[in-house]
Amino acid sequence: MNILFVAAELAPHGKVGGLADVAAALPGALAEAGHLVSVVVPLHRGLKKSGEFRSTHLELQVPVAHGTWLTRVWQGRRGAVSLFAIERDEYFDRPHPYGEGGGDYPDSLDRFVFFSRAAVELARHIEPVPEILHANDWHTALIPALASVARLPMRTVFTIHNLRYQGEFPAADFARLGLPAEMFRPETLEFYGRVNLLKGAVLLADEVTTVSPSYAREIQTEDFGHGLHEVLKGRSEHLTGILNGIDEEAWNPASDPALPSHFRSGALSGREECRAALEAELGLEAANGRPIFGMVTRLTPDKGVDLALEAAERLVGQGGRLAILGTGEPGLEQAARDLAKRLPGRVSVRLEHHEELARRIFGGADFFLMPSRTEPCGLTQMYAMRYGAIPVVADTGGLHDSVEPWEGSKKTGCGIRFPAGSGAGLGEGLDQALALWDEPAMMKSARLHGMKRDWSWGAAVPAYDHVYRSSAGLSSSGRKHKTKGTLACRN
Ligand code: ADP
Ligand code: GLC
Repeated sequence: MNILFVAAELAPHGKVGGLADVAAALPGALAEAGHLVSVVVPLHRGLKKSGEFRSTHLELQVPVAHGTWLTRVWQGRRGAVSLFAIERDEYFDRPHPYGEGGGDYPDSLDRFVFFSRAAVELARHIEPVPEILHANDWHTALIPALASVARLPMRTVFTIHNLRYQGEFPAADFARLGLPAEMFRPETLEFYGRVNLLKGAVLLADEVTTVSPSYAREIQTEDFGHGLHEVLKGRSEHLTGILNGIDEEAWNPASDPALPSHFRSGALSGREECRAALEAELGLEAANGRPIFGMVTRLTPDKGVDLALEAAERLVGQGGRLAILGTGEPGLEQAARDLAKRLPGRVSVRLEHHEELARRIFGGADFFLMPSRTEPCGLTQMYAMRYGAIPVVADTGGLHDSVEPWEGSKKTGCGIRFPAGSGAGLGEGLDQALALWDEPAMMKSARLHGMKRDWSWGAAVPAYDHVYRSSAGLSSSGRKHKTKGTLACRN
């Protein structure tokens, strides 16, 4: 089918989290399966500077609440996938895609309403006209409403990557959306007297997906629904959980230029070098035969970073070392900084976004820690496994779906899962990891299972294919859908 994938981020330039990785990888996998796919993103500073996009003559008249803005489209290409970027420097040429210091820019509603409207205008101007608009997360959640109001001949699919961020604003901001007043009601975008963009998308998209089967179930419960569980339950027939994959070429320890030495499941000695180099790079004291635990994460309570910081002292007491790379909430950044000061040489904290160091942590740590309270999918545990670090994860969402627990008696599994949401659970997980560390043959076996597993998008593609067909009212049996052709701009 012909799909326009709309997202706020695109890896590797100006990436904040996993959404960027998905936007960079899933479209290519869909294209390989025969779909015609293009991606549209805001022209963030990182993308503009990357040189991957060039300015075109295509200009769109984008309707905004009080008029129309002329905006230029930039274009690029990755293999079979066409890339489009929406230029609006006053909105997007900023140091961060969302906001500096962990919060959102105060005009984030206007920024993403504009982007969503521009994406819809773009959809009308590319040929052949897309059959599916695939929007992602709250930033693009206005798209199903726009498509429905304009009666566009396109189906809409909306993917929830993280339900915590809903695009909620005071009722007075409804006017900024430029939608007819009747769209502000409980059946559409109104939620307890406020504007809720994500709710609107859940109700108005033809199909809704989220990024793991377990998270799809969890968000229909009060504990994980962030207030929207009843709304999601009401759409359960059209809600599908599809586990993300990873780009196995972009994430390959046998060729990753960020690693000081390469390795693969059949030749692991390079990994020892990566481990030693990581210790040296982070100033971790040689761990006397004890394991290094790595974390690469946004620093938020959802990621359980506070739990990890609390557990660190005990872990270090048992000889473990901890390497944290992340940015996020100022309070957690400070707590992490304090911990590193208290435990020099044993805990390393780097508060920055550092793509190469992240890869060196995946390739050099013995274990990879994710004590998330909630995790829609999580990609880092998959990167860790591919790079030979054994994941120690909270049993929630996509972590449940991707980390099969190691079972010594059967020699199956590739990681450790512990009960989510408490320090006691995390303590159990760390104890299990330390016990596994004392059994080198078992360690190796668990590591190899993780490295050898198929983490590609292969399994997700047919599931998306099914969702796209359902959104278009097509059955998934019968004809094979192969769309051929190229996307051309209509000026
Ligand atoms: P989320 O999207 O919730 O942050 P994911 O596990 O899906 O979690 O994806 C996070 C992505 O961001 C991964 O590619 C991870 O390597 C990357 N990442 C997170 N923090 C950093 C950091 N400080 N430096 C480099 N990469 C990071
Ligand atoms: C979100 C989620 C994360 C998921 C990513 C990509 O940021 O927090 O769990 O892996 O999106 O779907």
